[in-house]
Amino acid sequence: MNTLPINSRSPWLAPLAGYSDLPFRMLCRKKGCTVACTEMVSIKGLKYGGKNTFELLATHPDDTPLVVQVFGGEPDDFAEAMPGLLEQGFTWFDLNCGCSVKKVLKTGGGSGLMLDPDRLVDIARNMIKVAGAGRVGIKIRLGFNFGEDNYIEVAKRLQDEGAGWITLHPRYAKQMFSGSADWSKLALLKEALDIPVIGSGDLFTAQDGVDCIEQTGIDSIMFARGALYDPAIFAHYHEIMDTGRASPASPAALGGLMREHIEITREFCDSQRSFRKVRSILPRYAKGLDGIRAIRGRLTRCENWEQLLEAADEVTDLIIDPSVTSE
Ligand SMILES: Cc1cc2nc3c(=O)[nH]c(=O)nc-3n(C[C@H](O)[C@H](O)[C@H](O)COP(=O)(O)O)c2cc1C
Repeated sequence: MNTLPINSRSPWLAPLAGYSDLPFRMLCRKKGCTVACTEMVSIKGLKYGGKNTFELLATHPDDTPLVVQVFGGEPDDFAEAMPGLLEQGFTWFDLNCGCSVKKVLKTGGGSGLMLDPDRLVDIARNMIKVAGAGRVGIKIRLGFNFGEDNYIEVAKRLQDEGAGWITLHPRYAKQMFSGSADWSKLALLKEALDIPVIGSGDLFTAQDGVDCIEQTGIDSIMFARGALYDPAIFAHYHEIMDTGRASPASPAALGGLMREHIEITREFCDSQRSFRKVRSILPRYAKGLDGIRAIRGRLTRCENWEQLLEAADEVTDLIIDPSVTSE
C-alpha cells in the first residue's frame, strides 16, 4: 500500500501504551478500524534490541495497515534504528511528541519535543530519510506549557520535511488529560496545512468522532479511550456515517464483544500474561450496565480461558435477567 487511508470513512486506532497490542488491534479491525497504531516503542530499545521492545512489535499479515509509533529524544538513535524496522517489513511510522509521562519525558522525547522544535524536526528528518517522504506521521500537542501554542509552526516545518500527516491532541502537554480537548485548534491546523490532519482528544463515542470531523474539517480521527471502553466504537462510527444513527449498545452485544476479545487474544497471543491482561480489561466493557459489581467479581475470579469464556457468556444472561437490580 502506497498511501494510508486518511479520510472520514477511515477511523484509526490511536497508539495506546499497554493496550494497542496485536489482539486488541485485531479486535478493533474486526469492528471497522481502518488503520491501527502500535503501542509506543522506545527507539533506544530498538537500537539495543530489548525483549520488551520486540514483543511490542508482534504483528500478523492481517494486522494491516499498521503504524509503528516510536519515541525518543536523540536524532541519531532514529537514524540508527529505523533501517531495522524497515528490514522487519514495517512501512508506516509515527513519532510520539504528545506523551507527557515521566518515563518518556526523561528520554528527551514525547511532548518534551514541543519545547525543542529544532530537535523534533531533526528526529522527523532522520525518520523520513529512512522511511521515505509521506511515510511518517507526527503526533503533537498544542504546545508544552499552557497557552504557549506552537503546534502550527511545528507542523508546517514537519510538512516541509516530508511528513505524511499530523495528528493533533489539542491539549497542552502540561495538561496531561485535564480540561478538555480544544477542537477549534484542529480546524486552525487543517487550514494551515496541505498534508492530512488527524484529530485525537475527547472522542469518547462514535458520535464524538463524527462531530469532530464535521466541526473542524479535519481528514480523520483516531479513537483512544473511546475504543478502550468499547472497541465496537468503530462499527458505530461507520453506522452513523452510513445511516445517521448507531444502534444502541445492548448487553448481548457487550457479552459478545467480551467473547471476541478473549478468542482473539487466545488466537494471537496465548500466554498467561495475556490471559491476565484480558481478564483485567474485560470488566471495563460492562461499565454502566446493570450488575457491574457482580460481573467484575465473576471475571476477576476466573483462572483460565474456559472460565473466562463462560463468564463472558453469563454476562449476557446476567444482564438480560430482569431480576438483576441496577446499581
Ligand atoms: C492508556 C493510554 C495510553 C496511551 N498511550 C499513548 C501512546 O503510547 N502514544 C501516544 O502518542 N499517545 C498515547 N495515548 C494518548 C492517546 O493516543 C490519545 O491521543 C489521547 O488519549 C486523547 O484521546 P481521547 O481523549 O479520545 O482518549 C495514550 C492514552 C491512554 C489513555
